Amino acid sequence: MKLNFEQYGNGKPIVFLHAFPFSGQMWRRQSQELASSGWRVVLPDLPGFGKSPISAEISGIDAMARAVNELLNALEIERAAIAGLSMGGYAALNFFKFYPEKVSALILADTTAQADSEEKRKSRYEMIEKIAEQGSEILVSEMLPKMISQNTKDNNPALVREIAEMIANAEPQAMIAALKGMAGRDDFSDILAEIDVSTQLIFGEEDKITDLAAAEHLKTGIKNSKLAVIPSAGHLSNLENPTKFNQILLAFLSDI
Ligand code: MLT
Repeated sequence: MKLNFEQYGNGKPIVFLHAFPFSGQMWRRQSQELASSGWRVVLPDLPGFGKSPISAEISGIDAMARAVNELLNALEIERAAIAGLSMGGYAALNFFKFYPEKVSALILADTTAQADSEEKRKSRYEMIEKIAEQGSEILVSEMLPKMISQNTKDNNPALVREIAEMIANAEPQAMIAALKGMAGRDDFSDILAEIDVSTQLIFGEEDKITDLAAAEHLKTGIKNSKLAVIPSAGHLSNLENPTKFNQILLAFLSDI
């Protein structure tokens, strides 16, 4: 499966994997700064999102990892830092599981290594029915409020509108396929002990979707990891406080 992507800058490669139901565009606040700091930034659109096609009824997280690998092969990138937020973090962990030799460092933001609980799986299938009946807009009312902090809601209406627009623009078919893929994804807890590359964990303090317990689970499991918590940010920490997020990212990358 060929993924659409954007690419900026020259230097050591870093690949950013986006959250559900966004696209590589959700990283634009990071890509310019990283490119001007000497990184080659690759922003894939995961299957069905942005301008990438969809070819299956279920977008498995394993298929996402394979598609990212195909893209790196096509770009002749042998080893890269892999950053993923939420669903992008599931894909980053799956990428490490399949291709550990290709990962130079990991950045896992607002994500979890644990598979879905039964309750979470059930809620994904309920959401699938609603999307099939009502389209993408339903996620704006049902998911967006859980994704951002109170501070963002109160003080950054422009960002709230931007996120709402990105969600509404996603294709229902891609959303449904990714929800099925996330519901069926493996538990990655077992591979945490195998992660031997430097890992930065970045979480919004008010993340209600993948909370600080998920962050601690990753931190305990990955020996060479450190955790940074961004105050007053929610699940979309890279969008809610890009200044802080980029500071953490650049400090980490300059150390490795
Ligand atoms: C995401 O932000 O990618 C999703 O919230 C992940 C999920 O629903 O598990």
